[in-house]
Amino acid sequence: MGYHSYESLIREIKGRLSITNLVENYVSLKRSGKGYVGLCPFHDDKNPSLHVNEDKGLYHCFACGAGGDIVGFLMRYKNVSFQDALQELAKKANIKIQNKSGASQKQSRKKSLYKVNNLVSLFYHNLLISGAESRAARNYIKSRGLSMEIIKEFHLGYAPHSWETLVHFLNKKKIPQGIAENIGLIIRKKNKEGFYDRFRNRIIFPICDVDSDVVGFGGRALDRETEPKYINSPESEIYQKRSTLFGLEKSRDYVRRKEKVIIVEGYIDFLSLYSAGIRNVVATLGTSLTHEHAILLRRYTDKIIVVFDGDKSGEDASLRVLEVFLEVGISPFMVVLPSGNDPDTIIRDEGSDKFLSLTERANSLLEFYIERSLKEFKEGLITRSKAVKRIVTIIGKFKDPIEKSYYIRKTSEIFGLRESELFSLINHEIQSYDDTKSELAKKPNSQEILILKILLKFPRLSRFIKEKSMIDYITEKNIKEVLEVIENQDAIDVSSLLMYFDDSSIQEIISEAIFTSDNIADESTATVMLYECLRKLKLGKLEDKLRLLRMQIEHATSNNDEALEKKLLNEYKECRDIVEQEKLMRGEVYED
Ligand code: UTP
Ligand code: MN
Repeated sequence: MGYHSYESLIREIKGRLSITNLVENYVSLKRSGKGYVGLCPFHDDKNPSLHVNEDKGLYHCFACGAGGDIVGFLMRYKNVSFQDALQELAKKANIKIQNKSGASQKQSRKKSLYKVNNLVSLFYHNLLISGAESRAARNYIKSRGLSMEIIKEFHLGYAPHSWETLVHFLNKKKIPQGIAENIGLIIRKKNKEGFYDRFRNRIIFPICDVDSDVVGFGGRALDRETEPKYINSPESEIYQKRSTLFGLEKSRDYVRRKEKVIIVEGYIDFLSLYSAGIRNVVATLGTSLTHEHAILLRRYTDKIIVVFDGDKSGEDASLRVLEVFLEVGISPFMVVLPSGNDPDTIIRDEGSDKFLSLTERANSLLEFYIERSLKEFKEGLITRSKAVKRIVTIIGKFKDPIEKSYYIRKTSEIFGLRESELFSLINHEIQSYDDTKSELAKKPNSQEILILKILLKFPRLSRFIKEKSMIDYITEKNIKEVLEVIENQDAIDVSSLLMYFDDSSIQEIISEAIFTSDNIADESTATVMLYECLRKLKLGKLEDKLRLLRMQIEHATSNNDEALEKKLLNEYKECRDIVEQEKLMRGEVYED
């Protein structure tokens, strides 16, 4: 559900609360010009880059780009959902939210599940830290190099060697067995009445969400013989493995500060690094990294260092990681550990400095992938064309053109191919993409941003959106969405515009446009600029088409496909004539 469906509530909140006061709860602010400035809490800020504008009800960081309204600020700062942020603000503003919607009923059911898990986590924790029964467990944890401080900070626990310890505890606390069964704490007996504990004689690792609520547990056996080594809570209403990262609730501030995150596989790997003072870390808990994980991490940093175990499955997993991150616009790094090692053994055997130096020398995962493909080709495991195609598919996913051409050059050197050949291969890949998905469509273009700035500053000009069919020329999805909303309004105020979007990237685009539009002086200058932007966008689109045609022609030539070549050449000439005319009109000369 978006801002729009809560429009009146948000209006009420904004009328009663000041964004400056809210931000000031978390950041110390100083007056500066028309607004306030302070150190941005969303990146490691050295000079105050965070600006707050009370009149517009917005904040914006000029260094990291974070920005939005009062609701957006709270969501981001506390990492809470839109609904939770609204609830908190409504409370601050003394607004009663009436009649429970379906969404908030679900919310309160979730709350009761968290409550049970939090209670159970404490129960297991208390069993671990005292009593004779758990002595072996305490010794085991100690033997893994984890201190009492860590046990307490992460609420590590112990599930006793019995079938019904937890069942009895839950009964005593009058917690319905159905609920405990739902979140996987107890299991229904087969062919008999009653339940038994899932976790028995195991070290318990509570798994939390970013709000530090316990969503599930992992339990490790105390010896080598017991199988499986780890037992984990099943997925439930409150636990989705694909979007959970172990430890993020504790490490996220360190991740922000260090501006990078280290991803490991296991509970012990995480805790071992954390104990050694390397705290910008998360663990995937043996599941493969998902798109959801990547999106979640991208909220904190775009520097990703994957440190998986030094074995074959670790290597294979890292290739999936590459694709997952490239899809969200991040090129990850990877450390390959010596075979048989994991991050924990490196820390224990060689120290944290050694581990840190490994992460500092981490290689681009793509480079690793290219080299591995080359190796497989040289060893005769795959053909040259298979190796190249594999790499080209990956390079095609790159958003950044500079990185893209760097890797193309590298691949062409390694495999002894011409760069243009690789480009046309990639082109084939891209062409099969749908247009809105192509990487061109995702990169915000400076002309498009300028158009947005102009329209937000001079809302009367928004009539041109329709008149000039502007939306057809905009490729950036978020900007397109904003223009669609303002298309039919002649007096848009920013605060209500923001209500249409609870997507933080759209909030950022809007706040940035507003905070950087000072240089657009008056409406007539703005109109001229608007026309110029549109002209450039049209030209840009044509030039993209020319570039594509050139590559296709080259490809057709090298395939000796004369018919296709001729057809493409005609198309090329037609398109070039239009560009030339456009430019001549402006006194610019077209160069091929
Ligand atoms: P590993 O087998 O690498 O274990 O599994 P580890 O983390 O190094 O654990 P130690 O050092 O032997 O104690 C990595 C992760 O995969 C999941 C766990 O989350 C584990 O931390 N896993 C592993 C399971 O869920 N079940 C298993 O049986 C094994
Ligand atoms: Mn290990």
